[in-house]
Amino acid sequence: MSYFASRLFQDARVLVGVTGGIAAYKSCELIRFLVDAGSEVRVMMTESAGRFITPLTLETLSRNPVFSELFPDSEFSGTHHINLADWAQAVIVAPATANFIGKLVNGIADDFVTTTALALSCPLVVAPAMNSNMWQHFSVQRNVAQLKENDVLICEPEEGFLAEGYHGIGRLARLEYLLQYLYRALHPEPNSLAGKTVLITAGRTEEPLDPARILTNRSTGKMGFALAVEAFARGARVVLVHGPTHVIPPRVDRLVGVQTAQQMLEAVEKHFDQADVFLSAAAVADFRPASSRPDKIKKENSEMSLQLVSNPDILATMGERKKPRQRLVGFAVETRQGVQNARKKLEVKNLDLVVLNNPGEPGAGFAVDTNRVTLLGKAGERVELPLLSKLDVARAVFEVLLKGSTDLANE
Ligand code: CTP
Repeated sequence: MSYFASRLFQDARVLVGVTGGIAAYKSCELIRFLVDAGSEVRVMMTESAGRFITPLTLETLSRNPVFSELFPDSEFSGTHHINLADWAQAVIVAPATANFIGKLVNGIADDFVTTTALALSCPLVVAPAMNSNMWQHFSVQRNVAQLKENDVLICEPEEGFLAEGYHGIGRLARLEYLLQYLYRALHPEPNSLAGKTVLITAGRTEEPLDPARILTNRSTGKMGFALAVEAFARGARVVLVHGPTHVIPPRVDRLVGVQTAQQMLEAVEKHFDQADVFLSAAAVADFRPASSRPDKIKKENSEMSLQLVSNPDILATMGERKKPRQRLVGFAVETRQGVQNARKKLEVKNLDLVVLNNPGEPGAGFAVDTNRVTLLGKAGERVELPLLSKLDVARAVFEVLLKGSTDLANE
């Protein structure tokens, strides 16, 4: 699965709307993820979506009949669209055409999808996909701005190769982004960080040794990315500083890619004063080579030794600069005497919360999608969490930070 496999998707009632564009086939991937994550998925599609993808495909994947006609001949169904709108906990229209967006903004309900969309009382995510000229057309831009003003979550299209054969903005946002927005739509506390800035570090740093070699570790950034998704879902402004990784970072207000610990420190220093919360999830290299050589080191002897010098401790540096309104969260990777060592870090680095994990435990630590952690708070709180997806760990971290407890501990 992925670190997105949150319990919020489990048993969630999600209505997926598919409108007519070439990206319609990508809705399959979304439906598949949701069914796998335990959501109950219903699908509605427009007539033109049916030209790109068959209802049978969507029925098979969602395991439910697909809705597309306001007045099917077979049975009485005059209020199907209302029943479906009332049933849904969150709705995502992916892909959404310019036509659908235009109708939604103007209250036009002339087919099953647009009529249902007008009847919704739950959060709605709209993920547009279209030709780049259409996307940039003043009418589409105006309509999208209007939807945003009306609290519709717009998961904007990406830049890349379009079906027309050229590059431009208009591709449907990738699955990770669709899930990020849907997670926000399903979140029980979507405004709990509204007006706050959350600064996060994620992933590893790479310390160059020579042009071909680096010193690094196994971190991929998933835990930090999960924290960023969680902060986004709670309405925060998110600044995410991350090291090199193959994992796609979430969409945030400010994304800063760095390589070395020194660069990470500089990026964090730049944004720290605006931050209300700083979460330091990065696996920062404690040491770097004393010098980075301009030429490749040759294999001259049968032995060699490296001289290392210590890197700045980013979290400890911010702990010294911390103002009373700011909250600091650190991670403690420990393989022995975890609680004792983590409490020490909490104190020494001037933290409000420390997330203790042992990378040696099954399902925990680097590169995996789950984690098993203990949260230790400044006021003596201690919350042992079961094995959870990294996104659920992130939710628990914010719950404890904001309220001092989490329901996830007892589930
Ligand atoms: N950290 C940091 N800068 C460093 C090292 C660590 O900001 N140079 C942060 C990490 O992001 C994490 C916390 O400090 O939030 C603790 O990291 P960890 O590696 O567990 O501990 P260290 O402080 O490096 O101590 P040790 O390696 O001795 O356990």
